[in-house]
Amino acid sequence: MTEKRSHVQPTGVERHFGADELIVSKTDLKGRITYANDVFLRVADYAEEELLGQPHSIIRHPDMPRCVFQLLWSEIEAGREIFAYVVNLAKNGDHYWVYAHVTPSFDPHGTITGYHSNRRVPEAGVVDKVVKPLYAELRKIEESQPSRKDGMNMAARAMAQKVKDLGLDYDQFVQSL
Ligand SMILES: Cc1cc2nc3c(=O)[nH]c(=O)nc-3n(C[C@H](O)[C@H](O)[C@H](O)COP(=O)(O)O)c2cc1C
Repeated sequence: MTEKRSHVQPTGVERHFGADELIVSKTDLKGRITYANDVFLRVADYAEEELLGQPHSIIRHPDMPRCVFQLLWSEIEAGREIFAYVVNLAKNGDHYWVYAHVTPSFDPHGTITGYHSNRRVPEAGVVDKVVKPLYAELRKIEESQPSRKDGMNMAARAMAQKVKDLGLDYDQFVQSL
């Protein structure tokens, strides 16, 4: 979870990939990229050698709420899988939305050896109707606090409350979209 990312400004231009394609990457325990498939390289527009060894935050988009990554890491470090909608930056600042499934990988003794993410094209309409407004609200909460950590924790509580109000937990909510 090193604080390294692309300093490129978002262009506002959206990129797309095929409904039959998967963007795949693997990381070590710290989130440094150890594998990126060809679809990832094409959509994010990186050469393999530019990504391998880099923190996954290299493609982080500033619109992503911190609390989503906090939840992601707390789940996978506890050995659980998580699904999440994520917007990422390509090398030139274009963006692309994915529906990600992130899982821990285990050795034969059950120890986590790294992480794996498969991403597919999100369901039509879900990003615009539900995810963008939700993430904008969470970002606003995060930015309302002078301390990043306080903002992130406040946004995490707001997200938990929102899904609770729907009678769901986060997993049920994200999979219901
Ligand atoms: C397997 C795996 C895949 C990840 N994929 C992404 C991704 O596609 N985009 C992203 O911004 N962060 C991804 N992350 C999360 C990053 O490690 C990081 O937590 C996030 O970019 C926030 O970075 P920051 O804490 O430096 O702000 C992934 C992490 C793991 C373990």
